[in-house]
Amino acid sequence: MVRPVPAVVIVGAQWGDEGKGKATDLLGSRVDYVVKFNGGNNAGHTVVIDGETYALHLLPSGILSPGCVPVIGNGVVVDLSVLFEEIDGLEKRGIDTSRLLLSANAHIIADYNRTLDKVGERFLGSRKIGTTGRGIGPTYADKMNRLGIRVQDLFDEKILTQKVEGALELKNQMLTKVYNRRAVSVDEIVDELVGYVDRVRPMVADTALLLHEALGRGKTVLLEAGQATLLDVDHGTYPFVTSSSATSGGACTGSGIAPTEITRVIGIVKAYATRVGEGPFPTELFDEDGERLRTNGGEFGTTTGRPRRCGWYDAPIARYAARINGVTDFVLTKLDVLTGWERIPVCVAYDVDGERVDEMPMTQTGFHHATPVYEYLDGWTEDISGARELGDLPATAQTYVKTLEEMSGARISAVGVGPGREQTVQVHDLL
Ligand code: GDP
Ligand code: IMO
Ligand code: MG
Repeated sequence: MVRPVPAVVIVGAQWGDEGKGKATDLLGSRVDYVVKFNGGNNAGHTVVIDGETYALHLLPSGILSPGCVPVIGNGVVVDLSVLFEEIDGLEKRGIDTSRLLLSANAHIIADYNRTLDKVGERFLGSRKIGTTGRGIGPTYADKMNRLGIRVQDLFDEKILTQKVEGALELKNQMLTKVYNRRAVSVDEIVDELVGYVDRVRPMVADTALLLHEALGRGKTVLLEAGQATLLDVDHGTYPFVTSSSATSGGACTGSGIAPTEITRVIGIVKAYATRVGEGPFPTELFDEDGERLRTNGGEFGTTTGRPRRCGWYDAPIARYAARINGVTDFVLTKLDVLTGWERIPVCVAYDVDGERVDEMPMTQTGFHHATPVYEYLDGWTEDISGARELGDLPATAQTYVKTLEEMSGARISAVGVGPGREQTVQVHDLL
């Protein structure tokens, strides 16, 4: 039995776009804080509330829940122009964003890093990652390289100027000599950033301290991942990954909440699989089934509009995500999208160069060579979008859920049957 806990983590179990935004929104009204702890505006979360659709990138999905405080944690990289664009867009639609807090330690995506992301991809040619082009990778690289600009630097123009100067010494060499682009002046970067100071100041806080104190007072904190386990810089399909820690370990480093505070980890997993950008994807479909999943599931990126690559459910990946994150509960999303197939293949293991492998192969080469070993489950034709309890689902859909649960390493506590907040089958309490 999982005990009720004050700090709960939501992570993606596949390659992103599993429906983390909807799951966060679902729990948002029952928690006090929602913290985004990694990534930036490479994320795209679509949340549908009472027929209204909201597309969030940088802001935590908790911003849509009036009772909770949304927090951008220290592990996030922040594009300030996107931050205020999103805030203004939501305010125009009547959403109150005034509770938003921003960590003083979060890193800022400077304009040169947006440029370097795009030209860097072009430079890689056929070896490209297929990034979102938002400057995420170069900004995290600066962070690790100790060349980053942090939110707190905005409040000391002398320090800010020094840091931008330091960064540009290297960046301008790269821009002009490697990529044949124009050099950037210190002033243009500093002026742009300083232009945000007055708007940023009221939302900046020592968010790690604040969250620690809130937990001490018995408040509930939800930590919301961007991206997903297989895009995690350590545990994903490197180098075809994002540049942050998208797994539950990242929730601690990216928020300042200690591991001992977290006893519940909710893995969001789609009833099939998708991927955006380059990189290995063993169950990927190139046929009519893939096209049908894409169409039925609306599998086009929220951030870049790119068609998502689609394939069947991959149980070894789900088991891997359960292990790496310590998943206590899965939310299985988009089961409704599978309606209409007579038989649904599920990958239960891989064939790697003639050998059966039941777990994620140890090496990236092994994963590139992995072909799926399928089991076939019976499908259903009934519309399941109105189901709210397991018993409302056709018997074969119940068996699909149960079989996936047995294969995937943690219990399935909720099942998504449509994009709407209420279109969820509850099996076990998530909080
Ligand atoms: P995220 O990045 O993990 O938050 O996921 P995205 O928002 O990028 O992609 C998930 C998409 O599926 C969104 O358009 C959601 O509105 C939609 N969605 C989420 N859960 C369900 C579900 O159970 N069924 C259907 N049909 N759509 C869903
Ligand atoms: P959400 O939070 C799906 C992918 C990109 C690319 C790789 C690196 O909506 O699930 P980056 O711009 O991060 O350097 O790109 O990661 N990627 C995502 N794919 N969902 C996401 O976020 C993603 N964020 C990044 O397509 O392959
Ligand atoms: Mg998404």
